Amino acid sequence: MAGKTALVTGSSGLIGSECVTFLDARGWRVHGVDNNMRRDFFGEHGDTTWNLERLRRETSRFEHHDLDVRDREGIERLFADARPDLVVHCAAQPSHDLAASRPFDDFEVNAVGTLNLLEAARHQTPEAPFVFLSTNKVYGDAPNELELVELETRWDYADPLLREGIDESMRIDSSMHSLFGASKVAADVLVQEYGRYFGLPTVCFRGGCLTGPNHSGAELHGFLAYLARAAAEGTTYRIFGYKGKQVRDNIHSYDVCTAVMAFAERPSVGAVYNLGGGRENSVSLLEAIARFDELLGVTTTTEYVEEARRGDHICYISDLRRFRSDFPQWNVSISLGQIFEELAAAAAQRGKVATA
Ligand SMILES: NC(=O)c1ccc[n+]([C@@H]2O[C@H](COP(=O)([O-])OP(=O)(O)OC[C@H]3O[C@@H](n4cnc5c(N)ncnc54)[C@H](O)[C@@H]3O)[C@@H](O)[C@H]2O)c1
Repeated sequence: MAGKTALVTGSSGLIGSECVTFLDARGWRVHGVDNNMRRDFFGEHGDTTWNLERLRRETSRFEHHDLDVRDREGIERLFADARPDLVVHCAAQPSHDLAASRPFDDFEVNAVGTLNLLEAARHQTPEAPFVFLSTNKVYGDAPNELELVELETRWDYADPLLREGIDESMRIDSSMHSLFGASKVAADVLVQEYGRYFGLPTVCFRGGCLTGPNHSGAELHGFLAYLARAAAEGTTYRIFGYKGKQVRDNIHSYDVCTAVMAFAERPSVGAVYNLGGGRENSVSLLEAIARFDELLGVTTTTEYVEEARRGDHICYISDLRRFRSDFPQWNVSISLGQIFEELAAAAAQRGKVATA
């Protein structure tokens, strides 16, 4: 697909920036859309300027647009000018917890911003695969209804049939989502509808924990990157409920890109896939802290807060079988061990720069 053009939103963020470097290295021209709203959401830890500068240094055909996905006319103009062959929509207000204090920003960025992009795609580039980074929070806290067993360092599903985790048949309504989950449900269903109703080649990837060293980790979003940073810089990490045994499956941003590209090469209409690291890459909070402590040679200070985050998952592992069966050549290529090493190295490096 060299010589083609992609439009990536949220291009200074974790997944967007990984897609930019991935596509650029394969000869694509990439238009990135990002207004650094992550800084506005999360303060200085969320600032993505360093990542934009890195992209400018490391890529050759990347063009940045300081554009807001809420700017409907601006988005339409960009589609008309750039005429992308592929759209990867990663811009978002991504935090479950932050949404309650900024409900209009959350909905306008996540739901209305997505609608702006879908309409521009329908008018200008209806043949281009449209990839949307959705979230497992569309299931609300329904996964918490599954019977769990408490092991020494983590929760796990009691039913052996759930060994592979949660699949796409999990219901998306009648549960607590947080306002973030609700705005992402709206976007997820819109993306499906532009597939089913208008025939656009769209896909929703319902992400587990997406991670990697290029995450501007903040307390309210990017748990592994933020934990690595807290461990390296000696700040106190707060554990919210569930005895610290809550489980997440982690996928490296590189493996998210290969999934995006697998779909781009063989798109379908209105597809939905769960996408995470699966059981092999699952870890509990307590286990994650122990791993970083070992890698960084520190003892992280933690503070336990009895009350869990509202609507937070206790044990979430993505069942990857639907995606694997449609795209058998794809796999999770970066192990949990490697993810930890990369995050620890990046946090140690940034810690040194910050104290220099
Ligand atoms: N990281 C995860 O664990 C995770 C899990 C599930 C789903 N997701 C989804 O994946 C996508 C990418 O997540 P990420 O971790 O890369 O997030 P991120 O916050 O690192 O990146 C998002 C980028 O979007 C930009 N942005 C925000 N509002 C914008 C606006 N109005 N206009 C233009 N740009 C804007 C931000 O500045 C940021 O650089 C999001 O949709 C998120 O909901 C992420």
